[in-house]
Amino acid sequence: MVLCKLLGMGIFMSEYKVDTEKLHRLGDYIDGLERSEGELINILREAQEIFGYLPQDVQLFIARKLGIPAAKVFGVATFYSFFTMEPRGKNVISVCMGTACFVKGSDLVLDELRSRLKIVNGNTSEDGMYTVDTVRCIGACGLAPVVLVNDKVHGRVQVDDVDALIKGISDGIASKPELVSK
Ligand code: FES
Repeated sequence: MVLCKLLGMGIFMSEYKVDTEKLHRLGDYIDGLERSEGELINILREAQEIFGYLPQDVQLFIARKLGIPAAKVFGVATFYSFFTMEPRGKNVISVCMGTACFVKGSDLVLDELRSRLKIVNGNTSEDGMYTVDTVRCIGACGLAPVVLVNDKVHGRVQVDDVDALIKGISDGIASKPELVSK
């Protein structure tokens, strides 16, 4: 019985073009939930934690495990900005595009970052070192424009600061102080 289940699971797993070991971890997580209804967001969070992003096959796997339409999984995954469908770079830079930040030039900072890091298609540099994306207001409007570097908040970032910001990241420490105003 157990063998059949495992064997069945192995064949099932092999349908997906993602790391099988990681898929097993995700399957174990789902199986360990007392009840899976209403847990889709937590399951997607766990999947992103395991894979670093949410590949299409992982979404399909989750849908099949839960017995729900893949469109529902996709709908939730695309609704929330903290879920990503593409691999993330080693460093994630998020530019706030909320109103307060936008009117103070966050779009220019975003363009400069993408240009300096040569990000043309998608959000991640070809070497996989950087992902540049956007966030909505993070509640630090007094420091606009705001940039998150690996979840650390940097305030009043201007286009002229981008070089130092990138150098800081490549040196291992973002040089612009967190939450410090000029
Ligand atoms: S609009 Fe950017 S922190 Fe509020």
